[in-house]
Amino acid sequence: MVSDTLSRPLRDLRISVTDRCNLRCTYCMPREVFGKDFVFLPRAELLNFEEIHRLAGLFVRLGVRKIRLSGGEPLLRHGIERLVEKLATLRINTGQTIEIAMTTNGLLLPKKAQALKDAGLSRLTVSLDGLSEATFQRMSDTQVSVATVLDGIAAAQAAGLTPLKINCVVKRGVNEDEILPLVRHFRHSGIILRFIEFMDVGSTNGWRMDDVVTAQEILATISSHFPINAVDSNYSGEVAKRWSYADGGGEIGVIASVSQAFCRDCSRVRLSTDGKLYTCLFATEGLDLRDPLRRNASDATLSGLIVDAWARRGDRYSELRQAATVQPLRRKIEMSYIGG
Ligand code: GTP
Ligand code: 5AD
Ligand code: SF4
Ligand code: SF4
Repeated sequence: MVSDTLSRPLRDLRISVTDRCNLRCTYCMPREVFGKDFVFLPRAELLNFEEIHRLAGLFVRLGVRKIRLSGGEPLLRHGIERLVEKLATLRINTGQTIEIAMTTNGLLLPKKAQALKDAGLSRLTVSLDGLSEATFQRMSDTQVSVATVLDGIAAAQAAGLTPLKINCVVKRGVNEDEILPLVRHFRHSGIILRFIEFMDVGSTNGWRMDDVVTAQEILATISSHFPINAVDSNYSGEVAKRWSYADGGGEIGVIASVSQAFCRDCSRVRLSTDGKLYTCLFATEGLDLRDPLRRNASDATLSGLIVDAWARRGDRYSELRQAATVQPLRRKIEMSYIGG
């Protein structure tokens, strides 16, 4: 077990398997920046599946029990189910219970859901910011229909990738009127809907505090129509605060990373598409693991690098942002690259 300077263990590994995406959500990959001329990482720069598998094995030996694949859009990575299959072997090789999860925009799920389940994926989270065609298309900057995402969600359910979660990022003036329609749609479905405060990740999404609809506002909107009760966290460090409908309609969650930072229990480490280790979503610099990996460094050397980085870790960006009166100016890493 390793511990950082704030006594936080290393429990969760989030891996970005591609920096590409088939949507252009305005809060994540705005088309003005990620347009036709944007240069994504060339294939040789990406960690291959063997490299990801080897590093993941080292992280598991250091205490990681949940691995989340993200991106970019992870289903765009060719043969992603083979990576899931490889990661699933870590359960047998290490004798540990390891959750393998994925956050996806769902567009390719009708094709991929069953293969992911068969490969050993534990569960899925699908991003969906609204049910009205106009709002969904505006927020994701796409011509794709909401129905495609709903088909993907249905495919995931049919494949048994449950409990299924839906992530909705709420942006003021854009989709707060989608909160209740989403609530009505997903109540009583067994699917856990979660609303997320718009965050200042990266340097391209034009974040302003005024655009954040706070958890308090979101909860007020929901509870004015559907009474809800707080539920205990599933685990220490869970990002979502859980609630349940008083009438037995199931569970919902709110992720208040701006108004109620949750750094104190943050046990998450991120591996970027090209193999850099980041100890915070808002980090400006990462530790390159790909170079030593490709120079045939031993397991002990690689583990030593990870342990040192974690032991030095004092990150608590969201807490500091919350306390600050003036926002610090710094160039942060984009979410699609670092892994949402
Ligand atoms: P489970 O609890 O395992 O279901 O997953 P999760 O909620 O950790 O993962 P998910 O990818 O669905 O993330 C939900 C939202 O929380 C996204 O907007 C993430 O960017 C955000 N998030 C996840 N981890 C962190 C974190 O360490 N810091 C901050 N500030 N936000 C995070
Ligand atoms: N603020 C909050 N959530 C975000 N996501 C992407 N960018 C942001 C942001 N700026 C969400 C996605 C996805 C999850 C991994 O992170 O919608 O569900
Ligand atoms: Fe793609 Fe997800 Fe980012 Fe939207 S939030 S652009 S779906 S990676
Ligand atoms: Fe963890 Fe950094 Fe997010 Fe705080 S801001 S919860 S330290 S990733």
